[in-house]
Amino acid sequence: SNDSLWGGRFASGPDDALAALSRSTHFDWRLASYDLKGTSAHIKALHAAGLLDGAELEILESAIAELSKRVSSGAFKPRPDEEDVHAALERGLIEIAGPDVAGKIRAGRSRNDQIATLIRSFLLDASDRISEQLIDYIGALLDQAEEHVGVAMPGRTHFQHAQPVLLSHHLLAHAWPMVRNLQRLEDWRKRANRSPYGSGALAGNTLGLDPLIVASDLGFADVLENSMDATASRDVVAEFSFISAMIAIDLSRFAEEIIAWSTYEFSYVKLDDAFSTGSSIMPQKKNPDIAELARGKSGRLIGNHAGLLSTLKGLPLSYNRDLQEDKEPVFDSVDNLLLLLPAFTGMIATLKFNRERLEELAPMGFSLATDVAEWLVKKGVPFRQAHEITGELVKLCEQQGLQLHELSDAQLAEVSVSLKPEVRQVMSVTQAIASREGLAGTALPRVLDQLLSLRKISPRK
Ligand code: ARG
Repeated sequence: SNDSLWGGRFASGPDDALAALSRSTHFDWRLASYDLKGTSAHIKALHAAGLLDGAELEILESAIAELSKRVSSGAFKPRPDEEDVHAALERGLIEIAGPDVAGKIRAGRSRNDQIATLIRSFLLDASDRISEQLIDYIGALLDQAEEHVGVAMPGRTHFQHAQPVLLSHHLLAHAWPMVRNLQRLEDWRKRANRSPYGSGALAGNTLGLDPLIVASDLGFADVLENSMDATASRDVVAEFSFISAMIAIDLSRFAEEIIAWSTYEFSYVKLDDAFSTGSSIMPQKKNPDIAELARGKSGRLIGNHAGLLSTLKGLPLSYNRDLQEDKEPVFDSVDNLLLLLPAFTGMIATLKFNRERLEELAPMGFSLATDVAEWLVKKGVPFRQAHEITGELVKLCEQQGLQLHELSDAQLAEVSVSLKPEVRQVMSVTQAIASREGLAGTALPRVLDQLLSLRKISPRK
């Protein structure tokens, strides 16, 4: 026999190679406080089922309190020969409460229902922290959008000038995906907020333990209804890793713009010194490292998600040891998001926009051509012809090196008799933006509507 959690039927301990492969304490130790909370809930269920008397319950409660202190102070640590967080903590409780009382704790539970519960508890907490960070990030976008209300910029499709938009409209276009990520986390919580405890190894427990006692003590809204599902499924972990990856992807999309906007050629923005880095050789450099790390880390989080999905694919019911591989990727995603979000938010909050540059470029690249075509439509010209006529205008401008509004009355009339001088009314950025006043458009009143809705989610500080 060996002194692991399962030594009884074994003549020898595990080979070193197996022990090394099997060990998870280097990553699951961060679940220690959740494991102890689970144990504290479980002994209540044991007590309610008459399997622990009042005195034993008290001994164990104070042992758990003592062990919690030792764990948080670092005085208690897993030993190298201990397989996982569960084994190490059981040894800790035995050391404090003695084997007779502490030896009763494991009745009616398995590491399978334990670990399935702990990962949910961990992710529920992580989700709260990520949500707070997302609200701060949305707040930084809203502050910038409010500060720059009325500033026009080139709106792009295919990264080419398309139509002018308000800078605030562009910034809010990055806020909405994060609002949806917040909603995804809220919605995920409904599924995550159910406790697997009481499912035992796979089939439930014979000891009359009430899973609801544990669930409510741990703050879960409910219990899962099938013990095999409860111990074997990790879709809740996978869904969380998807949401994490989506958050990183949405940051990365903006990151790519920040990288372009801060170049000499664009000169749309200047990064704050505290949120940019220098070069060890080139004294003039100011680099958008936060944006680049956001772009890089999005790849890493996508990898974590894809890896986890691959682990889950094809696993038969119920618990399989493969499931141990769920933790490192999702821990990594959480850790990296919590590093990235505050830095990214700080970068956005301190960004200095070059209003003159944005305004100057807004009408360039013939971005008012659609407005000219639509002016013709309002004068009764069929859109196909209006499109053709405006295309001719653009061609002429390119040949002459002119912008649309620089064409003379004669040049306009030469392209089409329909192009009266009044067409110049729509050759203005202000007009182009103001006229897009329909729902979701870039006109100022619609942008102010968005700010109003978004401030409900991230109130001004
Ligand atoms: N370390 C395991 C995991 O992360 C805990 C459950 C182990 N269960 C078992 N039967 N070996 O999934």
